[in-house]
Amino acid sequence: MTNYWESFAPGEGRRPPRADAVTDARTISLNGVWAFRLSPTAHGTGDAFIADDFDPAGWDAMPVPSHWVLEEFTPLAGGEARSMRGTGEGPLYTNTAYPIPIDPPFVPHENPTGDYRLEFDVPADFGDAVLRFQGVDSCAKVWLNGTELGWSMGSRLPFEFDAPVRPGRNVLAVRVHRFSSGTYLEDQDMWWLPGIFRDVELIERPRVAIDDHFVHADYDHVTGTGTLRVDASTPSEVSIPELGIRIAAGESWSGSVDPWSAESPRLYRGTLASEGETISLAVGFRRVSIDDGVFRVNGRPVKLRGVNRHEHHSDHGRTLSLDDMRRDIELMKRANVDAVRTAHYPPHPDFLRLCDEYGLWVLLENDLETHGFIYEGWENNPPALPEWREAIMDRMRRTLERDKNHPSIVIWSMANESMTGDGFAEMRAWIDERDGSRPVIYERDPSYRDSDFYSVMYPSLEVLEQIGRREEPGSRKVGMHGMEFDSSSSEPDPFDERRRGLPFLLIEYAHAMGNGPGSLSDYWEIMAKHDRICGGFVWEWIDHGFRGPEGGYLHGADIDYEPNGGRFNLDGLVFSDRTPSPAIHELAKAYAPIGIRVTPEEIEVSNTRHSRGTDDLSFRWSWTSGARVVASGSFELAVDAGSSAALPAPAHPEGEDLVLTVEAVLASDELWARAGHEVAWGQYVAPPAAPEPLGTTPPAREAADPGASRGSRIRLGDAVFEDGRLVRLGGIDITGPVLDLHRAPTENDHGQGGNNNLARMWEQVGQNRLIDRISSVDIDGDALVVRGRAGAATRNHAAEWEMRWRGTGGSLELTTTVDFVGPWGDTPYQHHDVWIPRIGLLFSLGSADSATWFGRGPEETYADSRMGSRVGVWTRSVDDMQTPYEVPQENGNHVDTRWLEIGGLRVSGDFDFTARRWTSHDLERAAHRRELTDSGRVWLNIDYAQMGIGSASVGPALPEKYRVPREHTSWTVRLSAP
Ligand code: GAL
Repeated sequence: MTNYWESFAPGEGRRPPRADAVTDARTISLNGVWAFRLSPTAHGTGDAFIADDFDPAGWDAMPVPSHWVLEEFTPLAGGEARSMRGTGEGPLYTNTAYPIPIDPPFVPHENPTGDYRLEFDVPADFGDAVLRFQGVDSCAKVWLNGTELGWSMGSRLPFEFDAPVRPGRNVLAVRVHRFSSGTYLEDQDMWWLPGIFRDVELIERPRVAIDDHFVHADYDHVTGTGTLRVDASTPSEVSIPELGIRIAAGESWSGSVDPWSAESPRLYRGTLASEGETISLAVGFRRVSIDDGVFRVNGRPVKLRGVNRHEHHSDHGRTLSLDDMRRDIELMKRANVDAVRTAHYPPHPDFLRLCDEYGLWVLLENDLETHGFIYEGWENNPPALPEWREAIMDRMRRTLERDKNHPSIVIWSMANESMTGDGFAEMRAWIDERDGSRPVIYERDPSYRDSDFYSVMYPSLEVLEQIGRREEPGSRKVGMHGMEFDSSSSEPDPFDERRRGLPFLLIEYAHAMGNGPGSLSDYWEIMAKHDRICGGFVWEWIDHGFRGPEGGYLHGADIDYEPNGGRFNLDGLVFSDRTPSPAIHELAKAYAPIGIRVTPEEIEVSNTRHSRGTDDLSFRWSWTSGARVVASGSFELAVDAGSSAALPAPAHPEGEDLVLTVEAVLASDELWARAGHEVAWGQYVAPPAAPEPLGTTPPAREAADPGASRGSRIRLGDAVFEDGRLVRLGGIDITGPVLDLHRAPTENDHGQGGNNNLARMWEQVGQNRLIDRISSVDIDGDALVVRGRAGAATRNHAAEWEMRWRGTGGSLELTTTVDFVGPWGDTPYQHHDVWIPRIGLLFSLGSADSATWFGRGPEETYADSRMGSRVGVWTRSVDDMQTPYEVPQENGNHVDTRWLEIGGLRVSGDFDFTARRWTSHDLERAAHRRELTDSGRVWLNIDYAQMGIGSASVGPALPEKYRVPREHTSWTVRLSAP
């Protein structure tokens, strides 16, 4: 006999899927504390617990909704709590691999199973009822008052049973299995988190209940006419007072309306009422279409400024509160995000209600991913096999039926990364039949036969450009990320022509793991240019770290378990606790729907929104000289979507470090931000004044042995050098510099699956352990000239450097020249050329609490992630300049710096800087943030350049324009101790 949890069938005894609805039917929430007992196998505690009179004494208390692997277990009778978090019994992260043998539909004998039991009261006059589970991971069997109601799989999808409750005391018993055949369909890149993790409700079914309803609200942009028809399973009346609508369900209404869009989420509220039940309606009129290969809403092309969102809370996993959902949406809207892909399953239904209300375009994804079959060469992939067909169709039906009434949902996605199979054609045919109003996407089938969009993940800028021009190579190889094209194939691609006609949607790009992603503005520039490209979704919104026992946040590799997905679940734009990471500023700039170009002559404002003008915005400007505002003002400017307007710039004042900044801010409060919130900005930065001529005093040796080229002390103005290194400047305790050619590898520097692994290359060529030799210290006229060579143990390639010092009093000028000698180009690492992450100077300061600088800031910036930070004068404490990436790595850089004051030192020129209380080596060695400790000095990098950040942890290699050329380099900075 087949065990139900190992059945190909998705469930038994359930009611047909239907629309999620806000109803006036009496509803009893069954959320709260349940009795719980965990067993090692699917047989659980046996059958005794379903009995009415079972006594759960000795069981634990478990909150519902929750994931049992994240909760503290407290015995119901009291006593010590225990937790599984951080153990192999707890949350597991395997990324693409299944945590169980591939043996479908079977799962291991060891199958942690939670028996849940709740006693609850039902009022005497409560009629027939429906019992609803909004989400149980991964398979649940349910008994009410000793009678089995049925069972279900499909973790992120609701299921309902008719519930013959009795007046007074009722007993609900639920058995939940960590693994089931459903596990094979749920191999998304996220923690495995079993439990009843969404709400459980008992809903009264009145005599004439509305079992299902379907809102069809169309908008004709040519005539401005909205059409409404609400289908209902029961005779009912549709009422929308604002539009004077009072019609029967099934009848059509048309009239003049304002359309719904993510920018102007106009909802018309009303009701659908049968004799026994009233459902709230939130109707948004809009039409989604693809015309001439372009994705449109209400006739206008849409560019989705999107993010991929998983549900995550650092304590509660995928159990989110309404506040958490609202917080996500507010943060997204404030960062100019206007679209969400619900990666990789339908979210809690409240999230979609908020999307309707706040305005976000939603790509709603089915709860289906079979990624782990890749390790079997995709043999027996469920979507390709008839025995899985019902389970797959069940998921698609439950997804669409639950969420069909949301105006925010503009695209259905059938799955993520599940290769190919006839299951897709069948899902597709059913979607078309049930809801012809939304297009459908599936990224991973290279034929795109069932998809209305062409899509790949993580293409390079060049490939995206080709795609935008509809000139991509004919066929593609599907690898881990489906981004490679098969150049070896000369076979004509039979799907080529159809695919080229499709709009392109970048379903995932810009991997926000650790420090990054880079190139957000570059990607957006390409997307903006081509009609074919209808936008993209950054991977991903939030880091999935869990608050750990010793502080910090746990990632996969913190748990001793194989297979292990390591740190790949820390790849969000916001940290695990929803604190924005610096990438959010970069994203807000790239996604700004208003372009502001500022020159000394004019201000040009372009509106790249979907349909909204600039009526909700005010503009303000300021001329600053350093930190001082010298003139400011404001203006109103009406610019229609798709057009631009210019006005003369305010008069150019006199002064140093002049910047003209123009901002577009919200004119009044919106649901998601207050009046004054900045939506877009632009700047003109006046070129620096020529540096004052530098006086010089010839250097003087202090040592007794004037002939020696080493081991001596030299004075240059107020500076003291020993062995060619600065050891004091005026009153400042400063040492250095050392030529610095390394950085603590970022997550992106580790590449993916052996590709683009710069960190390993640096290790193999000794880039992270360069050893310096000072070859000469000479006085050459008014200059002190120090020469040396930095090379790695065991290698003969090196950087030869010269540092030429001049100056007087407390002011010095340092010109550094670097030449790369020896075999840098032929390394043991895949015969790769060595990429230099940085060319710079490392100093150490006796003390410094804060820094003030003129340049980009105040957030960290890199060559390829700098557009989101303005130029100005910024002050930050040294501690606040460290970005708290969970896995220590290079961070806190500031590009385009004109001057910097730190610890009494002033540096000027054009440079990058970082300042930290530990060295790059400490950063590189530490596995967790807590391992970073104050070294007692401040390590200051003043760099000629640092390589960009990129997205190579999943995406393409860093674009060439953001690498640091390994060539003869010379640059000058000034240091002074005022
Ligand atoms: C994609 C996948 C995502 C995530 C990402 C890398 O292939 O769809 O779920 O794994 O790569 O972080």
